[in-house]
Amino acid sequence: MAVARRTIDFAPRDVVTIARGLLSPPSGAAAALERALSRELDVPHVVTAASGRAALGAIVRALELRRGSRVVVPCYTDMSVPDTLGDLDHEARFVDSDPLDANPDARLLPPLLDASVSAVVTAHHFGRVADLDATLAVCDEHGLPLIEDATHAIGATARGQPVGTFGVAGYLSFNFTKPFTGFGGGAVLTADVRFAAAVRQALALAPPEPRAATVKRALKGAALWLATRRALFTLTAYPLLTGLARRGGDLASSYQAVANRPGGTASWGPISELSARVALDHVAHLRADIDRRRALADALDDALPPTIPRLRDRPATRGVAYFYVILAERRAELARRLLGAGIDTGHHLMHDNGARFDPRGEFPVARRLLAESIQIPIHAGVRPGDIERVARVARAFEPSQRPAQNL
Ligand SMILES: Cc1ncc(COP(=O)(O)O)c(C=O)c1O
Repeated sequence: MAVARRTIDFAPRDVVTIARGLLSPPSGAAAALERALSRELDVPHVVTAASGRAALGAIVRALELRRGSRVVVPCYTDMSVPDTLGDLDHEARFVDSDPLDANPDARLLPPLLDASVSAVVTAHHFGRVADLDATLAVCDEHGLPLIEDATHAIGATARGQPVGTFGVAGYLSFNFTKPFTGFGGGAVLTADVRFAAAVRQALALAPPEPRAATVKRALKGAALWLATRRALFTLTAYPLLTGLARRGGDLASSYQAVANRPGGTASWGPISELSARVALDHVAHLRADIDRRRALADALDDALPPTIPRLRDRPATRGVAYFYVILAERRAELARRLLGAGIDTGHHLMHDNGARFDPRGEFPVARRLLAESIQIPIHAGVRPGDIERVARVARAFEPSQRPAQNL
């Protein structure tokens, strides 16, 4: 049977939760979710929001950054990050990625931090924790607040401390493509009670996201969940993907048309009651999901030949293995071979923000990540035998010319 590159954190029980939510009056689910996440993640203050971008927007507003000032953000990240800053009249300045983990490279920050810069956003992409010690040291030296994009890394820690509590604040996304979902929603994480109150105030300026947006995403999420179940995927999307791959095509653009910007643009305000109810249910299996993905990622680490370059966790950090990413110069060929063995892989993981906003900038690591990354599935539908299939294909594939450590 074939395995889809991604699936959705959907459970049939979500339908019941949503139906109940539609029939009953608001029940304080957002506050309950905040308490549950604060306990589960060991983060002092959690403030829920309509989305990851709403959470980032609220952090930026609460920081009261100088109007028109610049904010340093990763070049290789989701386009919502520079777009959110642009919506708030801040210009993004881009930093290239660290080749170890695809997160912003702290070593490249100092020359970027001139007087026009008022804050720095780092990110824990694909569930791997950024170099927080080095990033914080540079930010402290320049007197700049650090924001952590933890949208991929719910539950990750560095030296036992949860992500989101190192800088002034961090933020999560509960969008339906994320490993932990409410079919929408997000949250700000912070250790600072006064900052949490300021974030809450900023979010209260807009109404909560309408529940219709959550329902729309839940329907899309359920459809994608169904389409990516092993049996249905093997019978429907898989033959289509194999046919497309023979002609150099992919379903990614169709998938992204469904997955991106679900339900229209997320509002600036608080989370919808429905999303909060669903996410609250999902807290119960958050740890088990992380443990299962980690076990699959560890198995891949062991099974893949050492010549295959891959992203790695930094020492003293504990990532959450959202995506398992390897690199291949001949990416299309390796992806085709994996697909032939029944393993569908993802290639469009992040956006080229440098090309969008700073075409003359040099971001060699981001460019390589954009050109060579392959995301191997490690989601709930993956079985240990699938890992062996991946390893067999990888072993037979001519190893990349570059040794793994030179990533
Ligand atoms: C790295 C990153 N940051 C921010 C976001 C924005 O989250 P949301 O879609 O909930 O606004 C996403 C997800 O789309 C993301 O992948």
